[in-house]
Amino acid sequence: MNSGNLTMGSQVKNFENDISRYLDVAHFVMMNSGSSANLAMIEALLRPAKGKPQLSLADKILVPAIAWPTTIWPLVQLGLDPIFVDVNPLTLALDLECAQDVIDEFGGKVRGIFPIHPLGYSMLPSELESFIDKNNLVLINDVCESLGSWREGKHAGTSGTAGSFSFYFSHHITTMEGGGVATNDSKFADDLRSIRSHGWSRDRSDVEEWRTGVTNNDAKFLFVSTGYNVRPMEIQAAIGISQIRDIDIFIGKRRAIAQAVNKAIAGSCIELIGAENLKEGADQNGHSWMLLPLRIKGPNAAELKRKIVKALENLEIETRPVLTGNFLAQPAMRTIGHNRQQPEDFPVATMITETAFMVGAHHDLTSEQIEFLCGALKRIAMEFA
Ligand SMILES: Cc1ncc(COP(=O)(O)O)c(C=O)c1O
Repeated sequence: MNSGNLTMGSQVKNFENDISRYLDVAHFVMMNSGSSANLAMIEALLRPAKGKPQLSLADKILVPAIAWPTTIWPLVQLGLDPIFVDVNPLTLALDLECAQDVIDEFGGKVRGIFPIHPLGYSMLPSELESFIDKNNLVLINDVCESLGSWREGKHAGTSGTAGSFSFYFSHHITTMEGGGVATNDSKFADDLRSIRSHGWSRDRSDVEEWRTGVTNNDAKFLFVSTGYNVRPMEIQAAIGISQIRDIDIFIGKRRAIAQAVNKAIAGSCIELIGAENLKEGADQNGHSWMLLPLRIKGPNAAELKRKIVKALENLEIETRPVLTGNFLAQPAMRTIGHNRQQPEDFPVATMITETAFMVGAHHDLTSEQIEFLCGALKRIAMEFA
């Protein structure tokens, strides 16, 4: 703040370098939120400054039935056609077997896939890569919930064209609000830099190429693509620089909370979705535990869930649905005329919505708060068993 340099500048550049090094990608383009990152990725696929677009208007893009609104809305807003796919009950991620069925149903009209790596869980890079190769699809990833999750030596969501990240206040690291896109594609990164800033050429690596020979315009003010203003501020990046240094500590704390909760509910009617990843010998780095999705087992699970959620809320333990629940049941889906697929077409998403909920696993929870949470879950699970 004292430097007087408040709008995007050297702090943003430094943070971008730190994050690209951490993610092991060639480029990170910081923006003012994860939602903006999704919007900019799709804009860049549709309208690159040079060369052929990777997607065209009305192309069908596969998305998970349990989603976040701003995974879906940029597709709708920019004229693409989201096709929903049910999720895997064990991971909550888009189920690639169901995705294959959907592709077979829609023939060659499906051009892309936009999976979410949900709640700290990383989808397997090798499975995603062979799926897109087999079906000739563009892959972009929503990694807004899964910073710090690695499988097969790759960070979540770094296969394919690009991945979006969020540094919202409650996430693995925070810049208060903030996000950005990771990519290994230099041209794509340049397009994101233009799109982030009105379509401007000035932050692109090929800026001189654009400026060469320009005589009829001020070469400093060349606009080479469509664009928004989704730039971050220096203060956000400065906070991010100190946050990313502690990422391993934050994730370690989150994993310990998941472990404590899993122990507290052992043998009860409540199970932690993803607990397999906590077992000895499991690939623990593949799950960075954003929030804890808890599912009620057995008959009357839906009714039992309502009772358990009420009991927790009465103790001022905040609960949430799993992301947004079955996204097709959200009222806004009716306003966009998406009538081809109905909520009941997605049995796993429906089951998760009815029988599961989430509690927090933030790394700033105190040991008293964690004990309180675990004690409450244990008592309530026994009471309703
Ligand atoms: C899967 C997913 N995508 C996108 C976002 C949007 O990120 P932001 O809040 O930074 O806009 C979120 C928010 O948490 C999310 O969970």
